[in-house]
Amino acid sequence: MSESLSVSQTLRRLRQRWESLVRRSPRRPGSHASLSSVTSAYARWAPVYDVVFNLPLSFGRKAAVAEANRTRGKALEVGVGTGLSLPDYDGRLTVSGIDISEDMLVRARRRVADRKLANIAELRAMDAGDLAYEDASFDVAVVMYVMTVVPDPASVLRELERVVRPGGTVIIVNHFASERGLRAVVERGLAAFGSRLGWDPLFPKERILKNTRMTLLSEKPVAPMGLFSVLVFQR
Ligand SMILES: C[S@@+](CC[C@H](N)C(=O)[O-])C[C@H]1O[C@@H](n2cnc3c(N)ncnc32)[C@H](O)[C@@H]1O
Repeated sequence: MSESLSVSQTLRRLRQRWESLVRRSPRRPGSHASLSSVTSAYARWAPVYDVVFNLPLSFGRKAAVAEANRTRGKALEVGVGTGLSLPDYDGRLTVSGIDISEDMLVRARRRVADRKLANIAELRAMDAGDLAYEDASFDVAVVMYVMTVVPDPASVLRELERVVRPGGTVIIVNHFASERGLRAVVERGLAAFGSRLGWDPLFPKERILKNTRMTLLSEKPVAPMGLFSVLVFQR
């Protein structure tokens, strides 16, 4: 009896923790999440981020990094988070990672040290919309599950176009709103609850396509259930 009580108490505490995280997570774009609200939300997410988001978002990460590994030279990962993708980069790519959240970066740096990842050049706190890099510094940039979290996706696209060399590659992984079918209906339902989930189920792909002069080379759906897409652009 006491054992089942403690199990239900544990479950209740987990649920309360989850609800408080979701309630206080960054609002979706359009509701003007500020950088400080994003950083404070990810300070709360950081300790549990890998447990919650490693597996469900792993398919898009693997596909995007495999695409980046076709390039040689210098890579930039924007919104690197806790660095879950870092071990997958080819050792011949020199990788810099940036993120607005120091709490996420601490974990990424620990991962690099633990895994002795010699090809990670630096992990720096920086705003994706205001990158402290020279023009044409990188051969490839990878942006995974970030575009729906930033307040101004257009400024991030401008910065990607600036810091990636002409002819280089920009890879974006995101969920984009479905236009029709059952999934579109589910997404509209989710949006009613989802403003604080930190991603916007109704984020349209056009918000990317209309705000860039880069050429879209390919677009692939990835698991789970094709919910996410990997877009590959040529700068
Ligand atoms: C959903 S997480 C994705 C993390 C990682 N890319 C992954 O695949 O697990 C979004 C990340 O974007 C970062 N982020 C949000 N706004 C940002 C901004 N303006 N500049 C840089 N990073 C930002 C957050 O701190 C967080 O680490």
